[in-house]
Amino acid sequence: MSHELSAIFMSSIQGKKIVLGVCGSIAAYKSAFLLRELQRKGAEVRVVMTPSAANFVAPLTFSSLSHNQVYIDMFPDRGHAASVGTWHIDLGLWADAMLIAPITASTIAKITYGIADNFLTSIVLALRAPLIIAPAMDADMYIHPATSSNISKLKERGIAVVKPEEGDLASGLSGVGRLAEAENIVSKVERFLENHGHDLVGKKILVTAGPTQEPVDAVRYISNRSSGKMGFAVAAAAANRGADVKLVTGQVSLETPRNVTREDVSTADEMLDAVSRHIGWCDALVMTAAVADYKVLNPPDRKIKKSEFGGNIAKIDLVETTDILQSISSKKGNRVFVGFALETDDVLENAAKKLKSKSLDMIAANNPQEAGAGFGVDTNKVTLLKADGSTEEMPVLPKYDVAMRILDEVKTLLKGGNT
Ligand SMILES: Cc1cc2nc3c(=O)[nH]c(=O)nc-3n(C[C@H](O)[C@H](O)[C@H](O)COP(=O)(O)O)c2cc1C
Repeated sequence: MSHELSAIFMSSIQGKKIVLGVCGSIAAYKSAFLLRELQRKGAEVRVVMTPSAANFVAPLTFSSLSHNQVYIDMFPDRGHAASVGTWHIDLGLWADAMLIAPITASTIAKITYGIADNFLTSIVLALRAPLIIAPAMDADMYIHPATSSNISKLKERGIAVVKPEEGDLASGLSGVGRLAEAENIVSKVERFLENHGHDLVGKKILVTAGPTQEPVDAVRYISNRSSGKMGFAVAAAAANRGADVKLVTGQVSLETPRNVTREDVSTADEMLDAVSRHIGWCDALVMTAAVADYKVLNPPDRKIKKSEFGGNIAKIDLVETTDILQSISSKKGNRVFVGFALETDDVLENAAKKLKSKSLDMIAANNPQEAGAGFGVDTNKVTLLKADGSTEEMPVLPKYDVAMRILDEVKTLLKGGNT
């Protein structure tokens, strides 16, 4: 088999149905090359353009190359409408993946907020398959806080973003914003489809996330800095890979990932109750929640007066909370249990102890004091320690990528006879 042929047969794009979205950017002409490359790798491609995009490249280019109608108008003239109908839904269901390249700042903002005011943005809402976006824009538009915060939100939802490159821009300026090279975009699509090969279909995964809040009285509580982002990334990634996912979360301000069943809790006791109720259902448990080790003894259901705390050194009695993993250990059986160890000292030693004492199959150790790791940030730096004694130190990665790696291991552990 020639090198070229083997590349075609190896590609995860082979035989896939891909919707290629094109937005109103000077880079829109590059989509024609992308379309050819996707076809060369064996994909069936349908093209959707925003009305703005049609100012940059003639739709005829894409209809000729894709041998198909190009979808642009949500409401074409009446004579034409019958042939379009609810294609925005149908294409969303038809696709194995959607790639929007280039995507503009405007369309990024629209899909962040679920605005469906043209054919392309409507498909995004109806889409059941993974979405990959490749932004292209002026450097100032790209680094604008609105754009970067929108891109972060989309990443949290599990949307893959192909970072634009640095170089000369159409504006005559230079900076980050040039559409990534076609081969980088296509290889991202390839990798994304490999990971989203629905390899966890039929698996039931229970994920815990976020902090717990332990009431001091009716208005105060003790908590921690967990943002819930790691657990939400695990839930989003597992759902994207076809698993049935239940997410038990402490109080966080994050959107529920698509196709994930969410249960909100507040205290460690409530988290224990929820995990105990769902443990019998799952094949694998991934515990990313930062559960309080102590709770306040008998918090009153009224506000404690400042004077009642007893002088300038206030005392609150704390009692240990029930250890969730220990209390469900009898239910482990063949289930895969993955924990997280957040440590600032002797990180790996402490994580190894926790792995053993809690009979986990794997633990992800991280130190919130390391750059790019821990609470609140979109990245994490994790070392995986497995029960067989092997370890894997990962670089700083987006939390979604860390989640994907953890799920690769969960998949292997499940195959290894754990269920
Ligand atoms: C010549 C020209 C080039 C443009 N290039 C870009 C671009 O690369 N990225 C971008 O975000 N907007 C760009 N714009 C602005 C978008 O076309 C504009 O925001 C439009 O409303 C986007 O619509 P759409 O997102 O529906 O395609 C450009 C505008 C012009 C006139």
